Amino acid sequence: MIQAKILVIDDEKFITRSLKQHLEKEGYEVVTASTGEEGIEVFKADSPDIIFLDLNMPGIGGIETLKSLKKLNNDVVVIIITAHGDIETAVSAIKSGAYDFVEKPFELDRISVLIRKAVETIQLKREVTFLREEKFDTYSFNNIIGESEEMQEIITLSKKVSESDANTILIQGESGTGKSLLARAIHYHSARASEPFVEVTCTAIPEALIESELFGHEKGAFTDAKASKKGLFEVASGGTIYLDEIGDIKLATQAKLLRALEDKTFKRVGGLKDIRVNVRIVATTNKKDLEGAVKDGDFRADLYYRLKVFPIYLLPLRERKEDIIPLAMHHVKSFNKEFRKNVKGISQGAEKLLINYPWYGNARELRNVIERVCLLEDTDIIFPEHLPSEIIKYVDTESGDGASIDLPSEGLSLKGVEKDLIVQALKRVENNQTKAAKLLGISRDALRYKMQKFSLL
Ligand SMILES: Nc1ncnc2c1ncn2[C@@H]1O[C@H](COP(=O)(O)OP(=O)(O)OP(=O)(O)O)[C@@H](O)[C@H]1O
Ligand SMILES: [Mg+2]
Repeated sequence: MIQAKILVIDDEKFITRSLKQHLEKEGYEVVTASTGEEGIEVFKADSPDIIFLDLNMPGIGGIETLKSLKKLNNDVVVIIITAHGDIETAVSAIKSGAYDFVEKPFELDRISVLIRKAVETIQLKREVTFLREEKFDTYSFNNIIGESEEMQEIITLSKKVSESDANTILIQGESGTGKSLLARAIHYHSARASEPFVEVTCTAIPEALIESELFGHEKGAFTDAKASKKGLFEVASGGTIYLDEIGDIKLATQAKLLRALEDKTFKRVGGLKDIRVNVRIVATTNKKDLEGAVKDGDFRADLYYRLKVFPIYLLPLRERKEDIIPLAMHHVKSFNKEFRKNVKGISQGAEKLLINYPWYGNARELRNVIERVCLLEDTDIIFPEHLPSEIIKYVDTESGDGASIDLPSEGLSLKGVEKDLIVQALKRVENNQTKAAKLLGISRDALRYKMQKFSLL
């Protein structure tokens, strides 16, 4: 329970005295004032949490005082004291932001109840603010680590998209590359931040239920629909709906999704009424080939292109190796806090091993390894022997690719060569991106990223 400070503003000495006595007995700290002007000064000096304010006072009236107090701090809880039967003024005070009112003459018991209720409200408000700030902090872009050029570009692009009016964003990348993390950062960085962020793991909902989960249903729409229910799109109204694994949604739902995106309206299952919502969709897929699913007829082309207005490709960690050590150190810091450890750094030998390892589970696998080391080892510095054996023993058989080009004496443009090789590879395999990526020894995601960079997409 918070220790509330209370200010009583009333020109009748009897009232201020009796309230002060009563509330102090209940353990509150109480200050008093006998005019509106004095009340405002005391408020500025003592910043009380709750104020009792008489409406009938000489000098500036109660309503004026109320407005000035609210201007100084909109969160302050003001309880109005009115003359018996003066409901009209009480209502106008509530309209100006008062929390509640009490009529004269009042029972002290009623005052105690009112105060307890007000304290609960204040506490709840503070908790919400605290949680919200904590969320903003946890999901801010500051916690997305990435020093590679690719990640820097993704962070810049994501911030821009987040601030824009875009209502669809598609994040693609292997499992563990940070899609969920990025989706949250996009929401909490946007103007929608204080509206809901609703997460839907499409694969976790049975196919038969997904439509009613997303769009809701009316009573009697199907056997189990005993009452009408809001869908997640309505719950997310004004905010963001995060559709994880969108590649697994069935075709009928895709059609409805598309309409919801294009017209901003949908119908509940079994409903006739159009429901209008303003929701941003952030969709993700770790399906290598959503485009392939489109070609096979498993994913609607129109929905794919609609989602793809803002595509973001998160590269596998092994293709942005500069991020490995910064990520590892980021997790060392956070696990130090969590487990009360004091790991200060990573030895050069261990760094080499971490960089060499291919991290097929991406940033998630790296985080798990660091968590294990921080939990189990009592060490200042992480040495190779602290790492799991698969990392120590890993021998890189994929690189050492044999290809070599002599650098011309006048030098060359690395970017130009890269673009040229990509174009050649694509030509050789008739634009089959998977085959071209294989020829170049990179993943299809990496190829697509580079194609986008060189305006080849
Ligand atoms: N750039 C990053 N900076 C800091 N932590 C990261 C980063 N990328 C990923 N992580 C961490 O790695 C873990 C996995 O990330 P996340 O859940 O976002 O991956 P994902 O792509 O959504 O995976 P999946 O496809 O399996 O759902 C999380 O603990 C996340 O905090
Ligand atoms: Mg995820």
